Amino acid sequence: MQTIIPTTTAERETFIADYERNRRRSEFLFGLPSPDAYYDRPIPLRHPFIFYEGHIPDFSFLTLVHNALGGASINPEYEAFFQRGIDPASLDVAQQAAPPSWPSREEVARFARACDARVLEALRTAQLEDPNNPQLVDAQAVHNILEHEPMHHETLLYIIHQLPLERKRRLRFEHEDRQRPTYRRARVAAGIATLGARPGSIPFGWDNEFDEEPVAVGTFEIDVDSVTNGDYLDFLEAGAEPPPFWRMKDGVWHLLAQFDVIPLPKSWPVYVSHDQAEAYARWKGLRLPTEAEYHRAAFGTPDGDERAFPWGEEPPDASRGNFDFARYDPVPVGSYPLGASAWGVNDLIGNGWEWTSSDFRPLRGFTPMASYPVYSADFFDGKHYVMKGASPVTDRRLIRRTLRNWFYADYPYVYAKFRTVSV
Ligand SMILES: [Fe+2]
Repeated sequence: MQTIIPTTTAERETFIADYERNRRRSEFLFGLPSPDAYYDRPIPLRHPFIFYEGHIPDFSFLTLVHNALGGASINPEYEAFFQRGIDPASLDVAQQAAPPSWPSREEVARFARACDARVLEALRTAQLEDPNNPQLVDAQAVHNILEHEPMHHETLLYIIHQLPLERKRRLRFEHEDRQRPTYRRARVAAGIATLGARPGSIPFGWDNEFDEEPVAVGTFEIDVDSVTNGDYLDFLEAGAEPPPFWRMKDGVWHLLAQFDVIPLPKSWPVYVSHDQAEAYARWKGLRLPTEAEYHRAAFGTPDGDERAFPWGEEPPDASRGNFDFARYDPVPVGSYPLGASAWGVNDLIGNGWEWTSSDFRPLRGFTPMASYPVYSADFFDGKHYVMKGASPVTDRRLIRRTLRNWFYADYPYVYAKFRTVSV
C-alpha cells in the first residue's frame, strides 16, 4: 500500500474553479440554440441538444463520485440514459440509440443541478488522489471530468454550426480577410519525434497518449501555412467537390461561419474532411504529414531538442494562436508569428486542427484508462485518422504535445485544416 496523498486546499480551489468555469461555458453554449431548437438534431448522427445538457454533468457525477469514489446514485434511470454519446458509425445505430421520448428541459436541469452539487461536494471534501485506487492515481478522475466537458464544448459548437442561422442566437464577430501569403515550404531535418509520454511524466493525459514512443523521421518539406480557401478554390476549378462549410450565394462562393454567411475569406484555412484533404494533396502530387512528421514540424528543433509547444516552453496564451474561444471562426493563416515552430511553420496549434495521414492506433504500451476504459479503445479500427493541434474553440487546457484527436475520414463537420508535405 502506498501512502495516500492529501489534496491541498489550493489544488481543491483550482479544481473547483475549473469545474465552475466549464459549467458556466456550458450554460452559455446551451443558450445559443433557440429554445425551440432544444430537441433539434442538426447533425443527424448526433443526439439532440437535450442529450448533451444531461450527459455532461451525468458523466462528471458518474466518473468522479459514483465510480471512482463509490458514491450513491442520484437517479439510476437518468444516469444510464445520459451516460454515453455516440460515434456516427451509421445512421441506423444512431436511430436505435434514440429513446422514444426525451425528458423536459426542466427535468434535465434539475438532474444536472443534483450532479453538480455532488461533484462540488466531492471536490471540496473527498480523497481525490489515491495511489491504491486506479481511478484516482494522480487524481485521474478529476482531470478526466475537467477535460471531458470542454471537449464537448467544441463538438457542441460543431452541432450548433449546422443549425439554421434563424434557430440560434447570433454573436457578433469581426472577420478579417487578407492577401493570401506567398506559398512557402520549410525543410525539417531528420530526427526523432517523441509521440506520447511516460505515465506519471505529465499531470494528466488520456490513455491514448501513453506510453512514450520515439519515431525516427527522415528529412521532409512542409507547407509553412495551412492550405487556404483560396488554394482550395483552384482545386474546385479542377473538378473537386466544395468543402462542407462553403455555400454558393448569387453565383459567388461564401463561407458558413458560426453566426454568419460571409464572402469566402480566401486567406483563412480551408476546413475539410480527411478525404478531401488527401484528395487535394494528391492533386498537387504531394501527401498529408504523418503524425510523427507533424510532431517533428511542430515540436522538433534544428539542434535536436523537442519542445513542449511549437514556440517553446511557455504555456499557451492569446499571442500564440487562435484557440481557447477568443473567437468561433478562423483568422487569416500566419496571423500568429509568436506561435511559429522552430522551423518557421505557422499555426500548428490553433486556427483549426491539423489532419495527419496516420490512422488512430494505440501507442506502444497502451492500457485503457481506469476511469474511462472505453475512451479510445473502441476507435482503433483503422477507419479514424489522427488530428493534432487545436481549433478556435479548443480549450487551452487541452493544448499539450501529446493530445490526439480523431475522426472518420469522411466526417464533414469538424474544424480541421491541413497542409502538404513531400520528401
Ligand atoms: Fe461525453
